Amino acid sequence: MSCHKTVYITTPIYYVNDIAHIGHAYTTIIADTIARYSRMSGLDTFFLTGTDEHGQKIEEAAKTRGKTPQAYADEISATFKNLWDEFGISYDRFIRTTDDAHKKGVQYAFQKMFDKGDIYKDIYSGHYCISCEAFFPKSQLVDDEFCPECGKITSIVEEESYFFRLSAYQDKLLAWYEENPNCILPKSKRNEVIRFVEAGLEDLSITRTSFDWGVKLPSNLNDPKHVMYVWLDALMNYLTALGYGNDEERMQYWPARVHLIGKDILRFHAIYWPAFLMSLDMPLPKHIAAHGWWTRDGQKMSKSKGNVINPKEVADAYGLDNFRYFMLREVPFGGDGDFSQKALIDRINSDLGNDLGNLLNRLIGMSQKYFDGKIDSTNVAKYYQAELDEMKASIAKLEPSLFEMQIHRYLEELWRPLSVANKSIDKYQPWVLMKDGKDEEAMALVALIANILANVAIMLYPIMPIATQKIARALGFEVDNNSWRKIVKEEMLLDTFVISKIPPLFPRIEEPLLAHAKTSSTQESDTTKEEKEDKGVALIGIDQFFQTTLKIGTVIEASELPKSDRLLLLQIDIGEAKPRQIVAGIKEYYSPDSLVGTQVCVVANLKPAKLMGTKSEGMLLAAKDENGLHLIRPEAPKTNGTFIK
Ligand code: MSP
Repeated sequence: MSCHKTVYITTPIYYVNDIAHIGHAYTTIIADTIARYSRMSGLDTFFLTGTDEHGQKIEEAAKTRGKTPQAYADEISATFKNLWDEFGISYDRFIRTTDDAHKKGVQYAFQKMFDKGDIYKDIYSGHYCISCEAFFPKSQLVDDEFCPECGKITSIVEEESYFFRLSAYQDKLLAWYEENPNCILPKSKRNEVIRFVEAGLEDLSITRTSFDWGVKLPSNLNDPKHVMYVWLDALMNYLTALGYGNDEERMQYWPARVHLIGKDILRFHAIYWPAFLMSLDMPLPKHIAAHGWWTRDGQKMSKSKGNVINPKEVADAYGLDNFRYFMLREVPFGGDGDFSQKALIDRINSDLGNDLGNLLNRLIGMSQKYFDGKIDSTNVAKYYQAELDEMKASIAKLEPSLFEMQIHRYLEELWRPLSVANKSIDKYQPWVLMKDGKDEEAMALVALIANILANVAIMLYPIMPIATQKIARALGFEVDNNSWRKIVKEEMLLDTFVISKIPPLFPRIEEPLLAHAKTSSTQESDTTKEEKEDKGVALIGIDQFFQTTLKIGTVIEASELPKSDRLLLLQIDIGEAKPRQIVAGIKEYYSPDSLVGTQVCVVANLKPAKLMGTKSEGMLLAAKDENGLHLIRPEAPKTNGTFIK
């Protein structure tokens, strides 16, 4: 990391077409963690979050609810802000793209890019995915009409549009990626972006005329039927929040130290955003860090699937700090993670309860029993230099891993001193030392444990701000810049202090605390509590079942997929104009010839996918047990395309 005096950290601004789920909470909690560390270490920090409120998707969402887009945006934006407030998220500003100052700033930027010759007017004709708010060239579409990102059908747009000369920035972007190996984190993502840009960039349509809900163009362009493309509007928030195009009051925070995002919006941040900034002659952000997806039972979470998890519900049940720890510890940054209560409970009981909580309890117990709670660090180095060194070595490794977004590594490393402490108690046995009259050595051991816990409390504070403050207070200090500097930076030991007794911080959790961790407000269900708890399986409503379209079809062609041991390539008539091409992993169990002419059950509304480079437009139902795999078929012949209910 280069040495900036100011640190600017951002989350994406969240669309107001949906309320927050754990994916949103994850991004925000990571950003909050970095911001807290940055402030604790004395850096002048500005942490921005907010809501993205314009665009066709929001306009349509408001319409279906019979509300004006503004009223609808006000309502949902407030739910995000309230949630972050309840979560104690330490943002410095919550921006809304419907703020007047933001709109003015975006118009200012548009005008600047226009004056520079980077914006021209033409006709856009092509495909647009409303769900992703993104244009796609035909070459990228699945099956000529489906969105390559979300699989939904795209709409054809043919309208007058202003374009941004993205193509003119291709080489400059490639040079930026080249010269800044850490500009996109994790590094694997940078390679993906480079490959995408190398394949060639087309100019970007940045205005729309077919709807209204967006920022108007600067008035001197005299083109009132256009509104700005929502991503141009949204990305600019990172600048307008600092006063860009207005009072410029906080521009000293630019460039951003890190834009935290999810991997699905990397293209916008790693390609469009730097190109816009280059056009505006602004410095580029230091890092764009893309995390992976949280899934539920292996599936992407979405409102339409009804499988979203409400972060508040989880935090209320398990504790906010515990939830934060789990999210950051469980998945390596950039990777996907599956949410399960079992994994959460294991982390709480084992890492937090056993390793950390018990250590604190043992410390409190020993110090009370042997020394009336009064601890003195004078002789720690005399007896336990090796243990102290081990702790310091771990603590010193932490800061760089945090700023490189290796937060799971950070936590892994932070647990080493805890293990040193726990092992030292078992190895040196303070009760034996006391019995043998080695009081000084026993005191040094208890003080070693206290000092390890002090270091861990400080460094764990950004992730678990509440619990760690309690630990620090029990040890007689507050976590703040002062204690961070003395204890972590200057490696000073704690002064003489009295340990206070506090109740156990991480009581053991025996059973899942949520019968059904999901968003109750987006998904109403009549299911009873007993039904939900049945075998621990998440129950679904009938409406969710019917989100899967199942149809009867007849295999009309079947062949082996070259180079694959597992896959067969099938053409199946499911009563549509063209047969469906399905790649199925059944080669071990069926020969192609035996399948032709037989009927099968097809999942007909599955997002198309590529298997071994071959497109697959559905899935067959089959059952596999110790007797092998068998396809599920109708008991009697059925017309192709018959719905299965
Ligand atoms: N409005 C845009 C961002 C504009 S930033 C200039 C947007 N909003 S969003 O609400 O759809 O998503 C916001 C963030 O939440 C994204 O970073 C996205 O990756 C993240 N997540 C949404 N669902 C997620 C999961 N299931 N798991 C992890 N993060 C996910 O995109």
